[in-house]
Amino acid sequence: MRLTVALTGASGQIYGVRILEELNKKEVETYLIISRAAEITLSVETDTTLDYLQSLVKEFFRNEDIAAPISSGSFENDGMIICPCSMKTASSIAYGITDTLISRAADVTLKEGRKLLLLVRETPLHSGHLETLLKLSRMGAVVMPPVPAFYTKPLTVDDIVMQTVAGVLEKFNIRIERKRWEGL
Ligand SMILES: Cc1cc2nc3c(=O)[nH]c(=O)nc-3n(C[C@H](O)[C@H](O)[C@H](O)COP(=O)(O)O)c2cc1C
Repeated sequence: MRLTVALTGASGQIYGVRILEELNKKEVETYLIISRAAEITLSVETDTTLDYLQSLVKEFFRNEDIAAPISSGSFENDGMIICPCSMKTASSIAYGITDTLISRAADVTLKEGRKLLLLVRETPLHSGHLETLLKLSRMGAVVMPPVPAFYTKPLTVDDIVMQTVAGVLEKFNIRIERKRWEGL
């Protein structure tokens, strides 16, 4: 299996870190792009280094590298995850502004009919945000804000994060252990 993963500058960099770690464990061939804003947010929110993230993946690309293989539909893959996804990147994709590798690769993912999952993180949402997300959903993207489930009785932040990570990976038929609702 081959996936493109992008980290953008929204809060919640730990989701991207954990998703990359799980894909590495499952030996998924992963292509990584990190925006400049994501680098900043990553350093604000975590102790994770870019070197560590690069060690988890097959290949790493700069967001400015518009000629990277993943910018073309001829490069076959099984989809793309943007985690976390800023409203800026979500808007670029929704309106076809493909001036970065992340927005171009996402646009290609949609036009080729492959799965695009956006872990969009912003709150509160104004009507422009909501219209953007509706547009993305109508274009075929999976819009999946990282909203915690509390029926699992999480004890740690990592419990909350991993529940969402499991949900993201399941959209690509990758299973990791997680609590499930089994009725009352
Ligand atoms: C610490 C930090 C937290 C941020 N959190 C969010 C957020 O949750 N959602 C969002 O849409 N933008 C957030 N931003 C703003 C984005 O980083 C900014 O809009 C940036 O231009 C996004 O660029 P990118 O999509 O190319 O990564 C945050 C910025 C910083 C520095």
